[in-house]
Amino acid sequence: MTAYRDPQPTSGDVMTSTTPPAAPASGPTRRQVLVAGGAVAATAALAACAPARSDDGAAGSPAASAAGTIVKTADVPEGGGTILRDVQVVVTQPSKGTYKAFTAVCTHEGCLVAKVADGAIDCPCHGAQFSISDGSVLGGPAPAPLSAVPLSVSSDGSTITLS
Ligand code: FES
Repeated sequence: MTAYRDPQPTSGDVMTSTTPPAAPASGPTRRQVLVAGGAVAATAALAACAPARSDDGAAGSPAASAAGTIVKTADVPEGGGTILRDVQVVVTQPSKGTYKAFTAVCTHEGCLVAKVADGAIDCPCHGAQFSISDGSVLGGPAPAPLSAVPLSVSSDGSTITLS
């Protein structure tokens, strides 16, 4: 250990000390660092629990990358639908052999819809529900219907292509 020498001795004798000088007044204390680290960890944990949201800021409009996406009609149940999360589109079959597609981005605050059941497309964030037939609002806080996405069905009825 290196001895600390007081820079201003008060007498002719040399004074030594093993106590280092006090930490500078500026800079975070250990407690401040631990509290800040905890706040960052809590924020990250909350973000991980949040429902999926669209980050493109274009709530209500279909993803531009959806065009050309192909879905098997066998994957779209009658009276229900399938959510294509990667292209933010929901494809429905309101009645046998009739297919519809809508943006999967809720018109309320931009969450992705999470479920299609009982004739409704459900948003998990605040409970909005949309019709599988025309995307209209059935309930909840959504201010506008889901926008329709054009599609075509193959001549043999086996696939749907978004356009
Ligand atoms: S974002 Fe869908 S109900 Fe609020």
